[in-house]
Amino acid sequence: MKKIISLILAFTLLLVPVCLSACGSKNDADNDAKDENGGEEKKVLTMATNAEFPPYEYYDGDTIVGIDAEIAALIAEKLGMELEIVDTEFDSIIPGVQSGKYDMGMAGMTVDETRLKSVNFSDSYAKGVQVVIIAEDSSIATLEDISGKKIGVQTSTTGDIYATGDYGEDAIVRFANGALAVEALKSGKVDCVIIDNEPAKSYVKANEGLKILDTEYAVEDYAICFNKNDADLQKQVNDALAELIADGSVQKIIDKYITAE
Ligand code: ARG
Repeated sequence: MKKIISLILAFTLLLVPVCLSACGSKNDADNDAKDENGGEEKKVLTMATNAEFPPYEYYDGDTIVGIDAEIAALIAEKLGMELEIVDTEFDSIIPGVQSGKYDMGMAGMTVDETRLKSVNFSDSYAKGVQVVIIAEDSSIATLEDISGKKIGVQTSTTGDIYATGDYGEDAIVRFANGALAVEALKSGKVDCVIIDNEPAKSYVKANEGLKILDTEYAVEDYAICFNKNDADLQKQVNDALAELIADGSVQKIIDKYITAE
């Protein structure tokens, strides 16, 4: 009898840990993207952004929301991956993608020749326009009037790159984000701000006494950037993006954040 009891006991003890790990992992797999035991672990897709760029990426409380955040979430879903958005300085995105710290960069980022030497880009998912924000009573009425004036830009953006080329290094005052550049415009430290049209609209809406110059400064394409050695992920994301464009999902997200005038 004793023998049987201890046999049963030993058997149960053996079974318990097996069940614990097997049963536990099933539940964990749903919550924990990095679960190693479930076999259905979700890989994390790390997206670097600079969440100071409404309506593409900005904070709603503690959460990063916006057009890029929502498109990326749908892409990750299609890839069966868990999206993780990392907020960083705009000029840290490309170096971080190059070093492998982030899987991709998505930040209303313009495809441009210089960047193409460092990273690869997906197909474009949106158009951007560089515009000029000025005070309502500004003497600036045309792009030519900007010569000799102080121009506020976000560091390393295409607004920075183009304006430095067109108006010279001395004209440029660089800021960590667009909001700070707009603050400088309001306090008269710069005479205008060159920035993408959608954030420009939201800054003008949120601040009294500002307007956008009628003439557009530059028209560009936004896309997602990848490490040059990660053609595989680039292709997967591109395919997912193409589907989301074709079925109208991307347009739906854009329409949610950008209301037609
Ligand atoms: N389109 C511009 C560029 O690529 C500005 C992007 C800034 N994006 C941001 N999330 N702060 O340079």
